Amino acid sequence: MLSTSIKILNEHYQSLNNEGIDVIQGLTRNQKNLPPKYFYDDYGSELFEQICELPEYYPTRTEAWILHQYADEIAQITGACELVELGSGSSTKTLFLLDAYQKVASYCRYIPIDVSQGILKSSVLKLQHKYPTFFIEGLIGTYEQALIKLESAFTTSRMIFFLGSSLGNFSPQECDDFLKQVTRTLQVGDYFLLGIDLQKPKEILEPAYNDSKGVTAAFNLNMLSHLNWRFQGNFDINLFTHQAIYNQTDAQIEMYLHCQNSHKVFLKALDLQVLFTDGESILTEISRKFDLVIMQKQLETHGLKTLKTWTDTKHSFGLILCQA
Ligand code: AVI
Repeated sequence: MLSTSIKILNEHYQSLNNEGIDVIQGLTRNQKNLPPKYFYDDYGSELFEQICELPEYYPTRTEAWILHQYADEIAQITGACELVELGSGSSTKTLFLLDAYQKVASYCRYIPIDVSQGILKSSVLKLQHKYPTFFIEGLIGTYEQALIKLESAFTTSRMIFFLGSSLGNFSPQECDDFLKQVTRTLQVGDYFLLGIDLQKPKEILEPAYNDSKGVTAAFNLNMLSHLNWRFQGNFDINLFTHQAIYNQTDAQIEMYLHCQNSHKVFLKALDLQVLFTDGESILTEISRKFDLVIMQKQLETHGLKTLKTWTDTKHSFGLILCQA
């Protein structure tokens, strides 16, 4: 019998009283910004899946290669445990891990967590057919909501994994808060597997975020369409263009939407009017690039001791397995 379940932690992931407060705050700052979580409505998640297939966007492919090579070793180190994936998307790379865990455990609990209901539902159904002896429980919600829920759930052994260098989309402060929350969710002896994109020349990084097919541009612009439907807005996406630059000082890609003409935008549900001047930009995402050794030290300050790291032959991407 297949045991699938999908739980919505909070259907409108901000349907509390403070819904959209981050949009109001971000669009009223001097340097306007918007939180990257607004990329991921169902269409945005689909576009992100397309980005992962682009020749210029190496992180997904590279991380998949590392997982393909070393998933068995990871499963052997941790042994059977509950697998919790933060930001699972379509769970494509996860197959390498699930295959490996199938070899070390006849029964396994896999909990994929994502804000995108459409993509999570279809991947949970597919996975349940592929791994009929696994218990798969999809949670729809943000990382914060999921980690709070998991804190109170007792398990024998658990590995939380956070792949795709999604950590890079957090500011240093958010990264610190996130790692604190992860640690609270783990008991002594539990595991955390982290995938991070490593620092490399701008000549490789910038094309990865300014692809020739314009998929990343569509992904970036879709954030405005998402805000239009979520907050009854009237952004005209034709008045904005996409740009991604590598800020070498902070070792981060910065993605912007540049406004072409002075105009006003109204978001009815937030009762917010925003004035854009010609040439003004909205910062929609940072994607930090890491140093493998410094990251291990940072994890250590959170009580997460590195057991092993893996990279590809070009040292382009890193995977760190640590233990609480
Ligand atoms: C999800 N995240 C790790 C991606 C990145 O590379 O920072 C998001 C992305 N933005 C543009 N392309 C990919």
